[in-house]
Amino acid sequence: MALNLNSTLKMPSGYEIPMLGYGVYQTPEAVAEDVTHHAIASGYRHVDSATVYRNEAPSATGMMKAGIPREQLFYTSKIPPNKINYKDAKACVEESLKKTQLKYIDLYLLHAPYGGKEGRLGAWRALVEAVNEGKVRSIGVSNYGVHHLEELDEWQKKQPKEKAGVLSVNQVELHPWLARPDIVSWCQEHSVVVEAYSPLVRSTRMEEPVLVSLAKKHGKTAAQILLRWGLQKGFVILPKSVTHPRIEENTKLYDFELDASDMKELEMGTYKPCTWDPTIAPLSD
Ligand SMILES: NC(=O)c1ccc[n+]([C@@H]2O[C@H](COP(=O)([O-])OP(=O)(O)OC[C@H]3O[C@@H](n4cnc5c(N)ncnc54)[C@H](OP(=O)(O)O)[C@@H]3O)[C@@H](O)[C@H]2O)c1
Repeated sequence: MALNLNSTLKMPSGYEIPMLGYGVYQTPEAVAEDVTHHAIASGYRHVDSATVYRNEAPSATGMMKAGIPREQLFYTSKIPPNKINYKDAKACVEESLKKTQLKYIDLYLLHAPYGGKEGRLGAWRALVEAVNEGKVRSIGVSNYGVHHLEELDEWQKKQPKEKAGVLSVNQVELHPWLARPDIVSWCQEHSVVVEAYSPLVRSTRMEEPVLVSLAKKHGKTAAQILLRWGLQKGFVILPKSVTHPRIEENTKLYDFELDASDMKELEMGTYKPCTWDPTIAPLSD
């Protein structure tokens, strides 16, 4: 079926995840309620927050304020990079539930593959327990490279089903200048949903000739070309904006399609992150 504003992907957990998510990294606490409410009113049904964003409370309030039934909304949070261990991860989930006032969190991620093997697997066990206790519906990781994914996969294969947990998502920076074929292939082979963060390359490449020409060809903006690329790659996309008209602009992705030659033009074959890249961190980190 053609992509539309309500398109979802089915995660290995069995739950659906909306392909368009609203990112709130660097969204100031003071405006988070207003802009998240505006996003939901504009048609987003998915909010991507994290403990370290310091806006879980206002972003959850803004999400709920729009009056959309809870089961149609999707809220993500993450265990901070410096708290990737069993004890801190348990406490973080409780804190998120308290701050957001949500009865459950749709998706909880380990923010980065830090903490060493023991820390990573301990924090994962805490997330599995949160699922078994009904506090969290689906769990996943963020910024995991193939070696981190393999470590988790090998451990899971040795556990009984209820202890192994189900890896639903890997959230990584993804855009045409950082297409990460190795991580994407691993996730696709294991049916793990790939979430694209910084899908607008943090607004640093809007003047690139390839984007300007594709925007002209389709009568869209450079931002919409970038976001459509992510959707057509099969990713969940997480654009962030605190600007009302841009929040709306970033939903208007469904009245055009990039053809095979457009997609080919966007194959940069480069490795150019615009932010941190913990996917390359050694297992000892
Ligand atoms: N897991 C992780 O480690 C991680 C890391 C980074 C990001 N993320 C997630 O991914 C989300 C998005 O990533 P990001 O915030 O790094 O960057 P991004 O979404 O690629 O870019 C955001 C920037 O683009 C601007 N922008 C938004 N819409 C635009 C438009 N239509 N035209 C021109 N400029 C536009 C925004 O400005 P205004 O806000 O001023 O409008 C902001 O400066 C985050 O909010 C977060 O949820 C996760």
